[in-house]
Amino acid sequence: MAEITKSQHSEWSSRFAFILAATGSAVGLGNIWKFPYITGENGGGAFVLVYLLCIVAIGIPIMIAETMLGRRGRQSPINTMSILADEAKANKNWHTVGWMGIITGFLILSYYSVIAGWVLSYVFKALTGSFSGGNGETISALFTDLMASPVQQIFWHTLFLGATMLIVARGVQGGLEKSVRFLIPTIFVLLVLLVGYAMTTGYYQQGLDFLFKPDFSQIDSDAVLVAMGHAFFTLGLGMGAMMVYGSYLPQHVSIAKTTLIIAGADTVIALLAGLAIFPLVFANGLEVSAGPGLIFQSLPLAFGNMTGGWLFGLLFFVLLFFAALSSSISLIEPAVAFLVENKKIKRTTACIVMGLMTWILGVIVALSFNVWSDVTFFGQGIFDLLDYITANLMLPIGGLCIAIFAGWIMKSKDSAHELAMEKPQFYALWKFLISYIAPFAVIIVLLKGVGVLG
Ligand code: PHE
Repeated sequence: MAEITKSQHSEWSSRFAFILAATGSAVGLGNIWKFPYITGENGGGAFVLVYLLCIVAIGIPIMIAETMLGRRGRQSPINTMSILADEAKANKNWHTVGWMGIITGFLILSYYSVIAGWVLSYVFKALTGSFSGGNGETISALFTDLMASPVQQIFWHTLFLGATMLIVARGVQGGLEKSVRFLIPTIFVLLVLLVGYAMTTGYYQQGLDFLFKPDFSQIDSDAVLVAMGHAFFTLGLGMGAMMVYGSYLPQHVSIAKTTLIIAGADTVIALLAGLAIFPLVFANGLEVSAGPGLIFQSLPLAFGNMTGGWLFGLLFFVLLFFAALSSSISLIEPAVAFLVENKKIKRTTACIVMGLMTWILGVIVALSFNVWSDVTFFGQGIFDLLDYITANLMLPIGGLCIAIFAGWIMKSKDSAHELAMEKPQFYALWKFLISYIAPFAVIIVLLKGVGVLG
C-alpha cells in the first residue's frame, strides 16, 4: 500500500478491503451468540421485528454518519470530533463523544474476550470429540463445567485477548485487512448448512414461528431498549469503531452503498444463526431463555449427532473465533489509535497498556460466572451489568451524539460533499432520518427503557 495517505495510520487498499474489515467488525459474537439468546429471553418475533426496525431506521443512518465523520476527520475519534467541531464552529467539547467511545470499547472488549474465550474452549472440545453422540444433558454439562471453572475461563480469555492485541499491534494493513477476507463467506455457508440440519429436526416450523411471528404481548419497554441496544452492538456503532475505519477509507468510495452491504450481511447472518439454533432448542427440550449459554448448549447437539458433525463443529467454532477476533480488533483500535496520535506512544506499547487493562477487567467478568456469581449491583451480576450499561446505554448515547452532530451541527454542504450520494433524494432521506427519526427514536427508547418516561 502507498505511503502517501492523509491518515497517519495508512488507508485501506480498496473499497473491498474496507467492506471486509467493517463487516468483520460488525459480524461477530453479537450475531451468532448474542442475537439468538436475547431473542429467546425477550419472547421471539416481536423482539426480532423491533430489532430489524432499529437497524433500518436508526442503525443504518447512524452507520453512514459515523463513517462519514471518520473519513472527514481522518484521525482517531477524539481528534476527529475536535477537528469537525472546529470546522462547524461548534463547541470543542464534542470530542467527549470520542472519549466515551474509547471507554465503551474497552469495557465491551473485557467481556467480549471472555465469551470469545468460551468459543476457543469449544474449538478444543470439538477437536477432542466431546460433542459426539451428545444429548441435552451431556452437552449442557460441558457448558456448566466450563462456567464453574475460573482457571479455564481465564486461560482462554488470556489466549483470545493476546491474539487480539498481537493483531492490533501489527497495524492496519498487516493485521486487519488480511484476517477477514475468507471469513464471512465461509461462515455464511456453514450457517446455511446448519439451517439445513435444523430442517431435519422436525421442529423447523416452530423455530420459524418463534422468530418471525410477532406477539407484542411478549415485549415491554425494556425489551425495546435491548433490541435497540443490540442494533448498535451488532453493527458496531456508537463507540468510534466505524469512525476509525472510516478514517482509513479512500475519498472516492461511496459510504452509503458500502454501509447498506455491511448492514445487510450482518442482519442475514444473525437471522441465519437464529434459524439454525431455535429448531434445535425446541427439538431437545432446551429453554429458549437459557441466556448466554444458549448457542453452547444447542449447536453442539447438532454437531454431535450429524454425519461429519465433528468436522462441522470444529470448523464452526474456529470461524466464530475468527469472527470474534475481527470484531474485537475494532473494539480496541480507537483507543490504540488515540494513544499513538496524542500520547506519541508506540503502537506496541499502546497495545500492551490497553491489553493489560482489558485483561484485568475480563478476569473479573470470568469470575462473575462462578466465584463471584452472587455479587450483584442493582440486582444484576457483573457480566449482565457491564453488558447492559455498554450495549443498552453507552452505545445508543454515543450514537445519539453522532446523529445530532451529523444532523444538526455539521454544515449540510460538508456532509453532502463527504457523502457524495448519487441522487439528491438519497441525501435528503438520510438527512431526514439522521436529524429527526434516529435521534428522537433513541431518546424515547432510552428514556422509556430506563423508566424515566413511565
Ligand atoms: N459488532 C460486534 C459483534 O456483533 C461487536 C462490536 C460492538 C464491535 C461494538 C465493535 C463495536 O460481535
